[in-house]
Amino acid sequence: MRKSWGFFRFFIILILLANQFFCTAQENKGVVGKNGMVVSVDEYASQIGIDILKKGGNAVDAAVAVGFALAVTFPAAGNIGGGGFMIIRFPDTEEAVALDFREMAPGQATPDMYLDEKRDYVEERSLFGHLAVGVPGTVKGFELAMEKYGNLKWVDVIEPAIELAGKGFKLNERRADSFNRLNERFEQGTKEFFRVFSKPDGSEFKEGDIFIQKDLARSLRLIAEHGSQAFYNGEIAELIAQDMKKHGGLITKEDLGKYEAFVRKPVTGTYHGYQIISMPPPSSGGTALIEMLNILEGFDLGQKERYAPEILHLIAEAMKFAFFDRAKYMGDSDFSEIPVKLLTSKSHAEDIRGKIDLKKAIPSATMGEEILTIEEAKETTHYSVIDKEGLAVATTYTINGWFGSGVVAEGTGILLNNEMDDFNVKPGYTDDKGLIGTKPNLIEPHKRMLSSMTPTLVIKDGKVYMITGSPGGRTIINTVLNVIINVIDFNMPIQDAIDAHRMNHEWMPDLLRLEKGAITEELIESLKAMGHTMKESSRWRQGDAHSILIDPKTGYYYGAADKRSQGSAIGY
Ligand code: DON
Repeated sequence: MRKSWGFFRFFIILILLANQFFCTAQENKGVVGKNGMVVSVDEYASQIGIDILKKGGNAVDAAVAVGFALAVTFPAAGNIGGGGFMIIRFPDTEEAVALDFREMAPGQATPDMYLDEKRDYVEERSLFGHLAVGVPGTVKGFELAMEKYGNLKWVDVIEPAIELAGKGFKLNERRADSFNRLNERFEQGTKEFFRVFSKPDGSEFKEGDIFIQKDLARSLRLIAEHGSQAFYNGEIAELIAQDMKKHGGLITKEDLGKYEAFVRKPVTGTYHGYQIISMPPPSSGGTALIEMLNILEGFDLGQKERYAPEILHLIAEAMKFAFFDRAKYMGDSDFSEIPVKLLTSKSHAEDIRGKIDLKKAIPSATMGEEILTIEEAKETTHYSVIDKEGLAVATTYTINGWFGSGVVAEGTGILLNNEMDDFNVKPGYTDDKGLIGTKPNLIEPHKRMLSSMTPTLVIKDGKVYMITGSPGGRTIINTVLNVIINVIDFNMPIQDAIDAHRMNHEWMPDLLRLEKGAITEELIESLKAMGHTMKESSRWRQGDAHSILIDPKTGYYYGAADKRSQGSAIGY
């Protein structure tokens, strides 16, 4: 009797352990789906994407619907007053395209428009208010995506956003808090901005409040009925131009009328037999990502522990070299020759590997001219979508800073970007704090400011394997690198790869940052001994990489929302 009770208990414990093991494995892989997956920062938006897929839309329809929805529910970064990029890959032809709807400088912009009489850079001017705004690209970009690759009608993918704006949506705690804290960031936000993002009775927003945006609903309705023409030539263009004129901004109706979104050829590379497809200029993201992967391919990272000092050292060195090249060479390829081919070549990576000391960090300042780097704003958003045919879309779009420029053009409800801050704002001037003064990214009329956004697809044996990307200014490129390495070199399931602590080095400032949790005293000491300058901060949170992995064996989709922002992965 006693013996069989013992066996029974042993059996139960075994089942519990197996169950525990199984659940953990499931959890780490993220949310599973067979027919479609949408992962974004916001659950309203992800649900809208899934609804679109269920009603017969393809991944492009869903991605555009998610983009419009985020402009309503996540105004800190989701937008129609900003710009961004979208990588789309078609399963039948195995071809991919890169949509560029990056903002551009207004026609009257000049290289030194943010300098004072003494030629000192006045940061507030490129960050806040009307002068900071670039000509928005999102609406043109979404229209281009729908015209060329969508299945549904334009109005079908905007309607859900119109409803959310007009009838309102429930604020979660984070969103309510972000609205309540806007006056900390925007001392000089416009009256219209504060009218839109505060309650009429002046009280604080609370979790569960319904947030209604009537003006935005009206603007979205105009766009739904008249297409991008309403935004770039019609009533909205008129209102934006008037607002600019009234408050000393540069954007005119002609600038808006001139704006075009482009289909570009993605930048591509390989890493341990996987194909990498990412964003070409005017983003630096894809080029720098491929450069780093090429460098790292020559060191077999997977041989060691993920957080071994030798591994972090090699990754940091690769980051430094790629960010040095980014600073030196990159800008809008429609305005100057950018050596993308060279930078993404295996031979360039080999040259760089020859300069990397396995045991010693190269001080950034010895690598070439110094480059001044502005502390970049940390708000943008990335989302990933795949449909049942395997059409895959990676979208990263932004208004640059948290709630952009703090300008809402009167009567439109549209929050405008502060993307002009991504140009090199002080010609020829570089230092070790972060401003870059090199020529390719100086301000010129109608030029696009250099971005770091890196919407990326990883392909295995001709099929999409991963969809990823992130916000985070320059850290974006490194976040995407961290995620790809975690999956490919360290065999992590996608949710683990997203959750794992990230690291960042941008060449200048010469600083290696690690997210909390990866840092142990011992690790810091080892890295310092190699010559790295470390900054330990428990508040450092790097990126927000809402990603999808497709299991090549089963074809199942695994969606991993990034917990750093409590994002939402929905599959079906
Ligand atoms: O285009 C860029 O690279 C920047 N404007 C992105 C800013 C950003 O990611 C801020 N977000 N977290």
